[in-house]
Amino acid sequence: MQALILAGGKGTRLRPLTVYTPKPIVPICNRPFLLYQIDTLRRAGITNITLSLSYQPFKIEQLLGDGSEYGVKIKYTTEPQPMGTAGAYKFAEELIRERTVVFNGDILTDLDLEAVIKQHEERKAAATIVLAPVENPSAYGLVETEADGRVRRFLEKPKPDEISVNTINAGTYVLEPRLLDLIPTNESHSFEYDLFPNLLERNEPFYAHVPDKTYWIDIGTPARYLQVHHDLLADTVGHVRLIERRGDFDLATSAEVDDRSMIADGCIIKPGAQIINSVLGQGCYVDERARIENSVVWAHTRIYADARVDGAIIGRGCHIGRAVVIGHGAVLGDKTSLTDYTKAGNNQ
Ligand code: GDD
Ligand code: MG
Repeated sequence: MQALILAGGKGTRLRPLTVYTPKPIVPICNRPFLLYQIDTLRRAGITNITLSLSYQPFKIEQLLGDGSEYGVKIKYTTEPQPMGTAGAYKFAEELIRERTVVFNGDILTDLDLEAVIKQHEERKAAATIVLAPVENPSAYGLVETEADGRVRRFLEKPKPDEISVNTINAGTYVLEPRLLDLIPTNESHSFEYDLFPNLLERNEPFYAHVPDKTYWIDIGTPARYLQVHHDLLADTVGHVRLIERRGDFDLATSAEVDDRSMIADGCIIKPGAQIINSVLGQGCYVDERARIENSVVWAHTRIYADARVDGAIIGRGCHIGRAVVIGHGAVLGDKTSLTDYTKAGNNQ
């Protein structure tokens, strides 16, 4: 058994964060995102992993290398241009001619993958798709099932009047290699729009797996990127491993860091500053009386005296001037520089 991670999308909805950092390796609680997926695979004993890349592949390869540092073996395929989700699977064909777990490269979950594989085998399925319940399925692939777990209908990005259930495609599949023969070579092809509807037409054994209480989130929008941090900081996610919340950093005696917050090595936090329910990446500087709340700040950003940051995401190497106010929903790209007293975002 091996795994393929689809990590070639451009991450447009996470811009500007993904301008210099491809979505698969954006930091989540100061750890590149893909490492959480690697953890999930390792927990199920899967160490043979292929990464399917297209956008900024070198940055990902440079970071993860051959995987030995993380106890796995990583191989890479890079499409000349994005070939769609099923096209990417087909493109990796030479490396995955066996039963394969496929992950969308932007979902964080504490799924019990072994249970999924076991059920796939018991049912002798050609494809198994993991489901997650969500409030509004319109941004996802809606999946209707029969009582025995067979998929009845798959509808990608349903319109409001097409929403019949709240169960969606969680972006995790177990696929038999014979499915590769149903996908054209050298053409763009989609699991969601092409292969899955095709499996249903052909009446293939295509099943859904509904996990017991499982955390699941697609990190691909700023709101959800922030949400996953709040969930992890609040310890509401089961089997997800976090790095130490406190690195080696310099905290003034009269500064405050609450228990939830995560502060990486090399940060300097000056007197009167407050860090609440937030993550600071390596080497950040927070000046006197600055207050950072419910926010994620990437490495080497400097936040000057009396600034207020609440509910924002701030990229790498930014300069946030004195008394700047940054409110909910603000997303600042790497190296943003805000002049003293700037007001940005929704600051009520
Ligand atoms: N290699 C490669 N090539 N990867 C791709 C390509 C491609 O052409 N297109 C997309 N991907 C990768 C993305 O990097 C991402 O990790 C994953 O495939 C899914 O793409 P998204 O663009 O994030 O899709 P989505 O979130 O709108 O919808 C998908 O995920 C939902 C769950 O999060 C669909 O699979 C939905 O059905 C599903 O509910
Ligand atoms: Mg996505």
